[in-house]
Amino acid sequence: MITIVGSGKVGGDAALFSALRRLDDEILLLDIAEGLPQGEAMDTSHALAELGIDVSVRGSNDYAEMAGSRIVVIVAGAGRKPGMTRMDLLRINSKVVGSVTAEAKRHAPDAILVPVTNPLDPMVHVAHRESGLERGRVVGMGGMLDLSRFREFIHAATGHSRDSIRALVIGEHGENMLPLVRHSSVSGIPLADVLPREKIAEIVESTRKVAAKVISLKGATVHAPGNAIAAILESIVRDRRQLVPVSTPLDGEYGHSGIALGVPAVVGRRGVERIVELDLDAGERAVMDAAAASVRSAIGGI
Ligand code: NAI
Repeated sequence: MITIVGSGKVGGDAALFSALRRLDDEILLLDIAEGLPQGEAMDTSHALAELGIDVSVRGSNDYAEMAGSRIVVIVAGAGRKPGMTRMDLLRINSKVVGSVTAEAKRHAPDAILVPVTNPLDPMVHVAHRESGLERGRVVGMGGMLDLSRFREFIHAATGHSRDSIRALVIGEHGENMLPLVRHSSVSGIPLADVLPREKIAEIVESTRKVAAKVISLKGATVHAPGNAIAAILESIVRDRRQLVPVSTPLDGEYGHSGIALGVPAVVGRRGVERIVELDLDAGERAVMDAAAASVRSAIGGI
């Protein structure tokens, strides 16, 4: 069973995308709002019925029902309103994530935790600290979404198939994200050989800013994060060992400890199996250090 705590816009969509990918026979949606997870589960099941997908999606307000889950996604909490930064959410959501983690520890102690609630990197730190789990079992989803956006901009600029675009986005899930241009390509051809410098700089900037744009237009980001969660879950449940960006507690990697930050990692059955340390150039390192400083100060503010 996969449990998704938080059955709002992103949690609901994550359940749908997970069911479409047939990631488990059973998906449980939990929420404190009465009726919401039940209604979301019904609505999703009606779609699955037409598709002929036999994944059971249930909704509940009872945390005890998550017993036996192999993964608990934490996407409960307040969303970012127009004009709000992710850091504004820090105080409200650290309490929510702390309490959901405590419930997961009690009812599903063997589960891998996938925090999604923003501000993501500090929330991964909270979930890790509260759970006492080994760090590899806390796999934060943030960079995977930033990567979807980066890929979409590369697709739009080059016209090449989305499927041919390989890229990485690490760092903070927020202002100090680091799209790794040197490690991005179209079917292996480095981005720098495909697009002019100025266009690449524009894409990097747009990748950093587009979440705020979507929020200003439609009030929230929903489908891309829902799908990105399912993509991370797929690498775990199918033990795909994909090299993807995830936020996980650092222990010296990239020169930082005591914080969680987005890094490239091999994600498989046991969660983060290995963090991959890339040689960053001076500019990249500066962004990574700024990201670490930002997350460290957020954690200090909790
Ligand atoms: P939403 O407001 O639609 O849903 C949040 C749900 O959490 C609500 O249904 C609420 O009742 C529930 N909730 C609150 N406290 C709870 C608790 N203690 N236990 C169980 N449920 C609880 O918000 P939305 O748009 O789904 O976003 C959820 C979170 O995900 C936000 O923090 C948002 O910023 C974050 N997010 C993170 C992304 C990422 O890439 N890491 C991308 C998009 C959103």
